[in-house]
Amino acid sequence: MQAESHLQHREIAEAASIIASSRYVVAMTGAGMSVESGIPTFRGRDGLWTRYGQPKMDGFKRFNDDPAGWWERNLNRDIDAHIIELRDALVAAKPHAGHHALVQLEQAGALNHVITQNIDGLDSRAGLRNLIEIHGNRSRLRCLGCGERQSLGDFVPTEPPDPCQRCGGVIKFDTVMFGEPIPKDTMAAARAEIDQADCILAIGTSASVRPASGLLWIARSQGATLIEINPHETSLTSICDVVVRAEAGDALNRLASFW
Ligand code: APR
Repeated sequence: MQAESHLQHREIAEAASIIASSRYVVAMTGAGMSVESGIPTFRGRDGLWTRYGQPKMDGFKRFNDDPAGWWERNLNRDIDAHIIELRDALVAAKPHAGHHALVQLEQAGALNHVITQNIDGLDSRAGLRNLIEIHGNRSRLRCLGCGERQSLGDFVPTEPPDPCQRCGGVIKFDTVMFGEPIPKDTMAAARAEIDQADCILAIGTSASVRPASGLLWIARSQGATLIEINPHETSLTSICDVVVRAEAGDALNRLASFW
């Protein structure tokens, strides 16, 4: 065990040195970033999709075909078991040391922006300011017509929301559904961060869901240095410059201790 932690220490020290000498550092986080807050991943050994099966890819089409029916079905609790498990974990979750370490790196000027694929809102609850939630946020509604977003706070809708007051459009949860394009403004903002970045931290993501994960390969093709923080190998590992085989909380805590 001692040898392994020494190895991680060397990798973390190398990551810290790369970050310190980089001009613009962007982190892309995935479900692994929230595991230590009690939220399951989607893939891998204990993943939700591994245990319940990957949901059908036509969620957005089914919503669009019958928004009122979708809201009726999703507002009561006789919904899929994996949704109940995920919802219960999301309600109980709090930011962990890894989220606070990202805030510390941001405040130290070592981290310029975070693009998270997570919808749990833990990054902003930890105090992160420069954040793009590329798959949306579970506690927000979004109008499909004009893109207007409104925060729900802790409120969980019990009725289908009225049409958008601004444009009369259909309102849905901000969370990007399977088959739903990532909102243009969000994708443009994320791509602008990637285009500025000369260093990318890929934290807790299997890097398997496009177009979000495709940004990692684009960053690489544009010359960015890639640092992966993940206890397991991913499809990104082979093109990473530094690989920290550790859990996000521990690795980020030790990384932040260099600032
Ligand atoms: N710390 C860091 N990484 C971890 C930890 C941990 N404690 N535990 C697990 N991981 C890693 C796993 O090894 C895996 O590579 O987190 C990753 C989780 O992968 P996924 O479950 O595929 O999550 P993610 O990459 O975020 O999925 C992307 O898929 O279903 C959609 O919209 C959903 O945003 C999600 C997207």
